Amino acid sequence: MALSHEEQELRQAAELAVAPLYALDCGIPRHTLPEDELSPDLAYQIIHDELMLDGNARLNVATFVTTWMEPQAERLMAECLDKNMIDKDEYPQTAAIEARCVNILADLWHAPEAGTATGCSTTGSSEAAMLGGLALKRRWRARRLADGMPADKPNIVMGTNVQVCWEKFANYWDVEMRLVPMEGDRFHLSPEEAVARCDENTIGVFAVLGSTFDGSYEPVAEICAALDAFESESGIDLPVHVDGASGGMVAPFVDPDLVWDFRLPRVASINTSGHKYGLVYPGVGWIVWRDADALPEELIFRVNYLGDTMPTFALNFSRPGAQVVAQYYNFLRLGFEGYRRVQQYARDVAMGLSAQLDDVGPFELLTRGDELPVFAVALKPEVDNYTVFDLSVALRERGWQVPAYTFPENRTDLAVLRVVVRRGFTHDMADLLLADVKRQLRRLERQPAPTHDATSATAFAH
Ligand SMILES: Cc1ncc(COP(=O)(O)O)c(C=O)c1O
Repeated sequence: MALSHEEQELRQAAELAVAPLYALDCGIPRHTLPEDELSPDLAYQIIHDELMLDGNARLNVATFVTTWMEPQAERLMAECLDKNMIDKDEYPQTAAIEARCVNILADLWHAPEAGTATGCSTTGSSEAAMLGGLALKRRWRARRLADGMPADKPNIVMGTNVQVCWEKFANYWDVEMRLVPMEGDRFHLSPEEAVARCDENTIGVFAVLGSTFDGSYEPVAEICAALDAFESESGIDLPVHVDGASGGMVAPFVDPDLVWDFRLPRVASINTSGHKYGLVYPGVGWIVWRDADALPEELIFRVNYLGDTMPTFALNFSRPGAQVVAQYYNFLRLGFEGYRRVQQYARDVAMGLSAQLDDVGPFELLTRGDELPVFAVALKPEVDNYTVFDLSVALRERGWQVPAYTFPENRTDLAVLRVVVRRGFTHDMADLLLADVKRQLRRLERQPAPTHDATSATAFAH
C-alpha cells in the first residue's frame, strides 16, 4: 500500500535520524542529477561536509579578496541576496546606492566631476579592466578615423607584472600587448621603458597600483610625466588607465600625498576591487572615468529607471545587489578615518611580519609591505637544499596558504613566497605564522635536497 505524503516524510526523517550520513552519501551521483529529492537537511550536510576540504579562507594569505566582514554587513547582504543589480526600476534604492558609491570613489580619487561621476559597479576588477580598456580603444579609434588614419592595429603598453585580466583584455579585444619585461631589481613598469614602446597606435598605458607580484606601486606620476615629454616630441597624447585593484582603496587612506589619481590630468580612468581593500566579500569591483568625455557615448546603454533613463555600461546583465549594498555599508560605517585605521593596521602587520622574517636568516625581502600591505620574499642564493615551494607546502600542514611562484620575464629565475595582509589578519595571527615558518625551517634545513619546485608545488594563478 502506498504511503501518504506525511507518512513518507515521517519515515524519511526517522531514517535520517539514525542513518549514517556517509553511507547515504555513497549513493549520491556526483556528475548527474539525482533521480529523486533529498531533504534540505541532508543536502546541506553532504555539501557542508564536502566543503570542509576547502582551505580556511582566513588562513589564506594568497588572496587579496576579503575574508572577514562584520556581522551587520553579513546581515545586510543576506537581506539583499535576492536583489538583481540590473533591475534598476524594481530596486531603485539599490541603484541609488550604487551611484552614491561611484561618487564617493570619484571624490576619493579627486575626479573633477565627483558629484556627478561617470562610473559603475562591476563583478570585480577584471570586468572593470575590460570596460576601461574598451573605452580607451574606442577613443583611440575615433581619433584615428577623424584624422583619416587607419585604426586596425591598436596596441597597449604595460608591465609584464600586470594581472592576467589585462592580458585577457588584449586577447579578447584584439589589441597588441606591448609588455615591458622585468629587469634586475625592477619588478614593474618604468616610465622610460613604457614610453619606448608607445606610438600612434597606442590606445593608452596601463599602470598598476600596486603590483600583484610584490605589492609595489608603479610610479604613475612619473609615467605621466614621461608621457608629457613624449607628447611634446611626437604630438601623440596618450591616456593612462590606473589599475587600482588593491591600491585604489589603500593609497588614498595611508598615502594621501602620493599623486597617482585624477589629480594627474593624463589619468583617464581608474578601477578598483570592492572585494579587495574595499573590504567586501567577493563579487564587486568599480570603475570611474575622469569625466563624461572619457567614456565614449556609443558604449553606454540606457535603461528605464523610475520613469527616467539610467546609463549603464557593463559586460554582465544580472548581478547580485548584495555586494554593492555591503560596499556602501563599509563606506558609511567606517568613513575615511575607519578605512585609514584598517589599512594602516594591515600595513603595520605586513611590515612587522616582513621585518621579523628578515631576521630569521635565510630570507631576502623583495618588498616590505610599505606600499600595499603585501610583500614578497625569496630565499638567499646560498640556500640550496630547500625551496620556497617546499616551505609553501610545509606551511599547508597547519592550514596556512602561502603561495610560492616564479616571476615573469626576465626574472623567471626568481622564486618567491608572497604574503597578502588584509582586514582580519592580526598581529597575533602574524606571530603564529612566523612561529610555524620557524618550526618548518628547522625541519627543512635538515633535508638533503629540495623536494618541490614550481612544477610540483600547488599552482598559483592570481
Ligand atoms: C592588480 C590587479 N588587477 C586586477 C585584478 C583582478 O581583480 P578581480 O579579481 O577583482 O577581477 C587583480 C587581482 O588580484 C589584481 O591584483
